[in-house]
Amino acid sequence: MINIAVMGYGTVGSGVVEVINTNGARINQRIGEELNVKYVLDLRDFPGDPVQEKIVHDFETIIQDEDVKIVVEVMGGIEPAYTFVKRSLKAGKSVATSNKALVAKHGAELLSIAKEKNINFLFEASVGGGIPIIRPLNSSLTADEIEEITGILNGTTNYMLTKMFYEGADYDTVLKEAQANGYAERNPEADVEGYDACRKIAILSSLISGQQVDFEDIYCEGITEITVEDMKYAKAMGTTIKLLASSKRHGNHLHAIVAPCMLYPEHPLYNVNGVFNSIFVHGNVLGDAMFYGSGAGKLPTASAVVADVVDAAKHLNRNIMTMWDQEKLRLEDKSDAKRRFFIRMKGDADKLLVDLQYSFGEIELVHADGLEGEFGFVTPVMMEGDYDTRAKSYKDQILHMIRIED
Ligand code: HSE
Repeated sequence: MINIAVMGYGTVGSGVVEVINTNGARINQRIGEELNVKYVLDLRDFPGDPVQEKIVHDFETIIQDEDVKIVVEVMGGIEPAYTFVKRSLKAGKSVATSNKALVAKHGAELLSIAKEKNINFLFEASVGGGIPIIRPLNSSLTADEIEEITGILNGTTNYMLTKMFYEGADYDTVLKEAQANGYAERNPEADVEGYDACRKIAILSSLISGQQVDFEDIYCEGITEITVEDMKYAKAMGTTIKLLASSKRHGNHLHAIVAPCMLYPEHPLYNVNGVFNSIFVHGNVLGDAMFYGSGAGKLPTASAVVADVVDAAKHLNRNIMTMWDQEKLRLEDKSDAKRRFFIRMKGDADKLLVDLQYSFGEIELVHADGLEGEFGFVTPVMMEGDYDTRAKSYKDQILHMIRIED
C-alpha cells in the first residue's frame, strides 16, 4: 500500500480525493499497488463528508508519519505551501502540486532537493490544468531544442474574449457573465491582468531553457483594455484577438511575453475558444505539435495531480525530473522582438496617411463599419523598440495598439 496525504481540501483537493475514489481500481492497477489517502490537511472540518475521518489540522502529523510517501499540495499561494513542500521533500516524501505560484517562484530549488533525495517534485497541473504539457516537455520532446511555446493558458480570459468576439459583448458584461458562471473570481485581477498566464509561461520557459525564468521579468499585458471597437477591427481584418503567453528562442535568448494578440485563421490557436486552453510547441527537429483541452476546473486539474501521484508512486526511489537550474536566464529585451502592430487612431486616415507612411513605412489601412472619427492601420514588421519610438509622436492620437501574431 502506498499512503499519501492531500494538503488542502478546496476545489482541487476535493477533486483529487474524488478522482482516487472514482478510478481507484484502475489507478491501483497502473501503479501495481494500492493507493491510500491517509490524511487530508485542512483548517476546516467537514462533518457528514466521508473525508472527515482523514482530516488533520496539523502538518506535523503528516511530516512525522514515515508511512506517507507522497504529499499532494493543492493549497495554493506561496506560504505555508512552500514551507510544507520543502519540508516534505527534505523528509524524503515526493510531492505533486497544482500550485503555479509556488512552482514559478521556487520550482528550481524544490526540484534540486527532490533530485538530492532521489524522489520527485511533480507539477503537471500547474500549467494547462488537465492538459499534459510538463510531462511531454520532460519526457517526450527531449530530442528537441524547443524553439517556441505559445499558449492560450488562461481559460477565464479565453472565455471572455470568445464572447466579445462572437457576441459583440463588451468587457464589463462578459466579466460579469464569467463571474456568474464561476469561471472568473470575484477579484478577477490574476486572470484579466495576465498574471496567471505569466506564471504559467514562466514555468514553461524555465523548462525549455533549463534555467530560472522569473515571471517578474516577463512583459505582461492583460485584456482589460480590449474593447468592442477592437473586436470590430479584428473582424474587419479577418483576425481574432487572443491572450497569448509566448516564449520564443532568438539565438541564445528567449523572448517571453503575455499580451492580447491578433491572430489570423491560419494560426493554430485561432480556433481555441471558450474556457479551453491550448499550447503550441515548435521543436527544431519535431516541427509543430499542439496540446489542447480542459485547462482548468476541479476534475481536469485533479486528473493531472493524480497522474503525478501515479508517476511518483511508480518511481518511489528514483528521480525522474528534470532540467531546471536555479541560475537565472536573461530574457531578450521586449524592444528587440520583431512583429507587426495594429493601431487604432483618432482622426481622418486620408489626412494622416502620408505622415504615417513617413513614420511607419508601408502601412495597411483598416476600416471597421460604424466607427466614426477613427481608423486603424497595420505596420510592416518592425522591432518593438522602433515601434515605440515612432508611436511617441502620435501618443495623443493613438487609441490602442494590439500586437499581431503572424
Ligand atoms: N484561473 C485559471 C484560468 C485557472 O482561468 O485558467 C487555472 O489556472
